[in-house]
Amino acid sequence: MNFYGSFPTTRLRRNRHDAWTRKLTAENRLTPADLIWPIFLTEGENKVVPVESMPGIVRVSVDRAAEHVAEAVALGIPAVALFPYTPVEDRDEEGTGALNPDNLMCRGARALKAAHPDLGLIGDVALDTYTSHGHDGVLRDGYVHNEDTVEILCRQAVAMAEAGVDVIAPSDMMDGRVGTIRAALDAKGLIHTRIMSYAAKYASGYYAPFRDAVGSTGALIGDKKTYQMDPANSDEALREVALDIAEGADMVMVKPGLPYLDIVHRVKTEFGMPTYVYQVSGEYSMIMAAVERGWLDHDRAMMEALISFKRAGANGVLSYFALKAARLLKAG
Ligand code: PBG
Repeated sequence: MNFYGSFPTTRLRRNRHDAWTRKLTAENRLTPADLIWPIFLTEGENKVVPVESMPGIVRVSVDRAAEHVAEAVALGIPAVALFPYTPVEDRDEEGTGALNPDNLMCRGARALKAAHPDLGLIGDVALDTYTSHGHDGVLRDGYVHNEDTVEILCRQAVAMAEAGVDVIAPSDMMDGRVGTIRAALDAKGLIHTRIMSYAAKYASGYYAPFRDAVGSTGALIGDKKTYQMDPANSDEALREVALDIAEGADMVMVKPGLPYLDIVHRVKTEFGMPTYVYQVSGEYSMIMAAVERGWLDHDRAMMEALISFKRAGANGVLSYFALKAARLLKAG
């Protein structure tokens, strides 16, 4: 039987027929301006050290940091996120290294600001790379103590902002830290320093390569489930975000990325805030491992993951792919 006469007049495949219509009908677009590139800093001079569990990712010494990010700046990546690999001998129970105005983070920020004044600098606030036990705060009877931790985080945030960090990004998940940090910054006149809160940060298995990158893999005693969120929860993420907004967060973040696209979407829809998503180390390494085995195409897997964050509603993505994606976008 000939069914053409009765076939629907709408054929969604028509708009997919040519590359140019696909371009014209694309609902979301990724540009270098959507990307934030995480950078690992290490002590020493003239160092560019590969991170074993993250193929293609390195730690750089402060003297090499400006040149390391130069291409990203030229490609239009608006900001980088800084993470220090604190030498083991500089870590202690209380994470006092976090308060040192000459620690890696602060020296890195000063060097990058001097070389690239228009590049946004985002600095992680938490104690995990400074504590001997690898937790994001200070332990009291084996428990990460909320108030004692927040007090230290405030001083850490002020030291970082004074060194040139533009955006304070608390990744510790203590209660009440955004408001307290805001007050501490304001008291020092640092009224333009923005806060991007890791508002909905989950206790995730996907951070493992990162902990290798910052040297806290072996250090961590126990897990972070008493402060990071349970992957089973979604309503609770909205409560976390609502509190951080009420406390003065300028931007909010969901972390990790791909397993939490529903959270990104709910957060953006509910609050309409500048919303960011962190495609974390494990998500990067998972793709890279499959690429190395020839099981996935690097560029396609990368770009598909990145556009999915835009589709879910994110304004921007923290991604270890940022430089490679920006290069590809430039090449067209
Ligand atoms: C530290 C912090 C972590 C990440 C960002 N900041 C690790 C953790 O919470 O254990 C993870 C980033 C990544 O996996 O790429 N508080």
